[in-house]
Amino acid sequence: MLQLVIGILILSAIGALLALLLEIANFYIADYGESHILINDEKDVVVEGGNPLLFSLMGEGIYIPSACGGKGTCSLCKVKVLEGGGPVLPTETPYLDRSELEGMVRLSCQVKVRNDLKIEVPEEIFLIKEFEVETMGLSDLTPDIRELCLKILAPEEGIRFKPGQYIQLEVPKYKGTKSPEYRAYSVSSSAEDRQAIELVITRVPEGAVTTYVHEHLKKGDQLLMTGPYGDFFLRESERDILFIATGSGLAPIKSILHQMEFRKTERKATLFFGDRRRYDLYYLEELKAFEESIPGFTFVPTLSRATEEDQWEGEKGRVTDLIEKHVPENASLDVYICGSPAMVDSCEEILEKKGIAIENIYYDKFE
Ligand SMILES: Cc1cc2nc3c(=O)[nH]c(=O)nc-3n(C[C@H](O)[C@H](O)[C@H](O)COP(=O)(O)OP(=O)(O)OC[C@H]3O[C@@H](n4cnc5c(N)ncnc54)[C@H](O)[C@@H]3O)c2cc1C
Ligand code: FES
Repeated sequence: MLQLVIGILILSAIGALLALLLEIANFYIADYGESHILINDEKDVVVEGGNPLLFSLMGEGIYIPSACGGKGTCSLCKVKVLEGGGPVLPTETPYLDRSELEGMVRLSCQVKVRNDLKIEVPEEIFLIKEFEVETMGLSDLTPDIRELCLKILAPEEGIRFKPGQYIQLEVPKYKGTKSPEYRAYSVSSSAEDRQAIELVITRVPEGAVTTYVHEHLKKGDQLLMTGPYGDFFLRESERDILFIATGSGLAPIKSILHQMEFRKTERKATLFFGDRRRYDLYYLEELKAFEESIPGFTFVPTLSRATEEDQWEGEKGRVTDLIEKHVPENASLDVYICGSPAMVDSCEEILEKKGIAIENIYYDKFE
């Protein structure tokens, strides 16, 4: 038995070594030359072979959504590869369901351009642009969350986005990284201002981009970003609205509230905004002020670990407790949830049990 286990271990080690050698050889020796990528049967771009499809397209000014910087963990970079993509990799299969596999959907960060490709992308991808921005302001909203104001330097006409959408911010290479890195951040400010945007960024320990923003970025620094991306935006309907946010998940919802204020929307809307302690909550005055400027809006903050020190007289418990307590069974609601994947999943589960129609629940998971 022991000999069998040792044999398997040796074989696995040899396999891993061969795979590593192949990758190294691929990197140093392989020369794929130029490849053509035919997009949507009409646009033909010529790229240097050997790079991931995601980055080859980016080099041509075609920005596919991606939140993880091409690490194969966010699954946002899906495109249809109709010809030339090679076999689906084990790194892709966990993120592709059966209908996507049958429909030739691939993770563009995992498909290497080794020959000519034929691909299909949604037309709105061509509206995504690159922007040069300047850091106008940085302020700490909580011990972990920093507000970042960015002025658009170019293109001159600024940015047009739907409130709730996100951009991808690139930070340069620094001590903690091997190359420039980019990540997704939802715009928290009003879409009426096309010359500047605000982001709220939670520090992630050892996180490439958040460490840069929290520890190295200075006023006046210039950065690149692309956008807008995403389908987390307000849908027109007659139903009441429930917004649910924790941490920096408030960002896209705040932008939607600015839109409702601007349009004087009369739909009944409630925001559950939760965190642990009083010092974790932010923008409380601005959110309270929306109750005056948006007819029908109610703001309900909640703390899950309030102590006497917090002198908190508001709701106590998690946002999920607020759903249990305040959302009636079978309510006719559009629900917009934003925050950590665990929080979004828990809310969705409780809402479904309460009979809220799943097709009326929209969310952005921040990881
Ligand atoms: C559509 C979308 C919108 C987003 N909007 C925002 C936003 O408005 N504000 C915001 O702060 N973030 C937002 N995010 C998350 C953001 O894109 C990054 O994932 C996050 O900032 C971490 O980046 P990083 O480079 O610092 O960490 P990375 O270098 O990517 O990660 C370092 C390590 O931390 C882990 N990790 C990553 N994120 C988290 C997390 N949130 N909590 C705990 N561990 C984590 C990773 O698995 C990894 O092991 C959004 C994500 C998506 C998909
Ligand atoms: S870019 Fe995140 S999975 Fe491809």
